[in-house]
Amino acid sequence: MRCLLLGLVLLAGCTVDTEPSLVQVDLELPAHFPSPSAPQDNPLTAEAIELGRHLFYDTRLSVNETISCSSCHKQEFAFADDRSTSPGATGDEGLLNAPSLANVIYASPLTWAHGRITTIEEQLIGPMFGGAPLEMGMSGVEQEIVQRLQDDPRYVELFAAAYPEQPIDLDTARYALASFVRSLVSSRAPFDRFLDGDAAAISSQARRGSELFYGTRLGCSGCHAGFNFTSAVDASGQQQMPFHNIGLYNVDGEGGYPASSQGLIGESGLAKDMGRFRVPSLRNVALTGPYGHDGSVASL
Ligand code: HEC
Ligand code: HEC
Repeated sequence: MRCLLLGLVLLAGCTVDTEPSLVQVDLELPAHFPSPSAPQDNPLTAEAIELGRHLFYDTRLSVNETISCSSCHKQEFAFADDRSTSPGATGDEGLLNAPSLANVIYASPLTWAHGRITTIEEQLIGPMFGGAPLEMGMSGVEQEIVQRLQDDPRYVELFAAAYPEQPIDLDTARYALASFVRSLVSSRAPFDRFLDGDAAAISSQARRGSELFYGTRLGCSGCHAGFNFTSAVDASGQQQMPFHNIGLYNVDGEGGYPASSQGLIGESGLAKDMGRFRVPSLRNVALTGPYGHDGSVASL
């Protein structure tokens, strides 16, 4: 429908500029943040965010109604987990630390060690339907979970408001969850006010820390770059070179990582990708511990 409309507009001699923005809510971003985007087929609307917010906290989405997305992405820890790894619905222990979801609207690629997962919609297939380790455990019980949602009059309303043309199913639910995740924006840190010109927003100690952070000796900002302190995106939202090995492990004397999680090599099969993980954003880092891809680093 959207393409058809766009086609007609183009035929009429207009430019694509007339296309409405895909982000149809005000995320109240400060001046030094780039404009975020949303996929063509899932514009970010207030109604989709509202539906996604209900789904995110709802244990009915897991196979045995025991966990929700928020069991691992806990709001009080900037939507990260305060455990190193998190058990799924049936008790499978995860292998990786659940990352904060703050500013994931800008993140591409997604997850600790996949270069090819570039949208949240795509990423969510993992926790929803994946089996090793099992997280929400929706595979094989899709119809049962959909029934739980269809039986709740509140969901009937929320789905109709958010996606009037779509059925109540797990694809629509996944799109709504992606929309909710996109609304989790973190942009009001004292350091943001400092960058926007308020010199008194951070202490003199923090200012010294920031000089070290941005200095050449430690070079933290070479990897934890830009407004989001990660090289998964640059200032214009474009993906850079997000994967690095920071030497957390050396199990074989040749820089090997434990078999449970070895980084980008798992996707690429290339020896040079051993131990390379995506540079995590440092937003809300005081809240998001334990740290590292496997949560093995207890404190800052
Ligand atoms: C059992 C714990 C668990 C559950 C339940 C869970 N997640 Fe996650 N989530 C994780 C872990 C661990 C990762 C990192 C995965 C990786 O790097 O491969 C992750 C990664 C993500 C990411 C990517 C973040 C980034 O910065 O790339 C998003 C988005 C996300 N989860 C959203 C959700 C949503 C929405 C749900 C509910 C449908 C959900 N998660 C359920 C543990 C969980
Ligand atoms: C070469 C790129 C690079 C440089 C330089 C770098 N980091 Fe990192 N940083 C990473 C990567 C990659 C990870 C994740 C590694 C892992 O889990 O295996 C990480 C993880 C972290 C974490 C844990 C965050 C979390 O959520 O788990 C903190 C905190 C951190 N770095 C701070 C710093 C500071 C401070 C400096 C400067 C002293 C710095 N980093 C320099 C790439 C870098």
